[in-house]
Amino acid sequence: MIPYPTATVFPPLPAGGLPLSDLQREVLALKQEKDAIILAHNYQCEDIQGIADFVGDSLGLAYKAAEAKSSTIVFCGVHFMAETAKIVNPSRRVLLPDLEAGCSLADSCPAEKLAALKAAQPDLYVVAYINCSAAVKALCDVIVTSGNASKIVNKVPADRPILFVPDQNLGQWVAQKTGRAMQLWPGNCYAHVQFTPGALLRAKAAHPGAPVVAHPECTEAVRDLADMVCSTELMVEWSRQQQADTLIVTTESGMIHRLRREVPNKTFVAAPTDRCACNECRFMKLNTLQKVRDCLKNGTPEITLPEPVRVAAEVPLRRMLEWSR
Ligand code: 13P
Ligand code: SF4
Repeated sequence: MIPYPTATVFPPLPAGGLPLSDLQREVLALKQEKDAIILAHNYQCEDIQGIADFVGDSLGLAYKAAEAKSSTIVFCGVHFMAETAKIVNPSRRVLLPDLEAGCSLADSCPAEKLAALKAAQPDLYVVAYINCSAAVKALCDVIVTSGNASKIVNKVPADRPILFVPDQNLGQWVAQKTGRAMQLWPGNCYAHVQFTPGALLRAKAAHPGAPVVAHPECTEAVRDLADMVCSTELMVEWSRQQQADTLIVTTESGMIHRLRREVPNKTFVAAPTDRCACNECRFMKLNTLQKVRDCLKNGTPEITLPEPVRVAAEVPLRRMLEWSR
């Protein structure tokens, strides 16, 4: 039998952090020359996070994109995030280093299927997790992220039945937190559902006393083993507050780069799965620093949206940005 993988352990970064590579310096110079801002999600590679103007979760990135003044936004994340930037700041050129950086969760909810369900149940109030396409956003009443979902759902008119798309695990977590019954779209994140109670228990046994944080896209069985369930952004604050020296992080392992930079002197353990010593999103990892350099040089691949879709998708997104403040 193949032994289960042991969790990957990330000790604190050396004092002074990591030195910049020649490629990182080249990207920083190009960024100046091209009047660009680089926004990066917490799951991006270490070398991309190291040169980004802002590293954050979906919510923080949406706010930063909305207020960006530079003529170009290089969005180091996945397609729906770059689309969100274009929706809220349409006069900017939005570049995604690899156009194939999609999201299987977003793909699980095609706009045509959602439109058919809405036609059959016209009373539904549709709450969409931001991990969906612009065409899906255009059909929804309000958008949420993992960082504000409960707050937003609490504001939905009490007399409306809610449909939550597309993540059933996050939806279930929000329903539990708010006490609001919701019809759940049967989608999930292929990466987060790979975490299992068994793998997490083995990591806990190997690091006794280490508190566990988990992303709400994990299954309920995994969430139940965590001391804290929250968005990637809240993981930073939670980690700062912990007394323990070692923390177990149950989300995409890129998160550890952000945590090591911002919460020094702690050891982070990337929770393993039954098959992998740490868990990477294959879409997030399609972006590389070389591709960031090339997209800045070439001004492509660019995110474009049909204007009617963009305008319709902006309504629930703006509602979220307003309700979330
Ligand atoms: P956050 O908004 O918590 O960063 O999550 C984004 C995501 O894609 C999780 O898989
Ligand atoms: Fe999508 Fe999951 Fe990757 Fe997040 S981690 S971008 S939800 S596939």
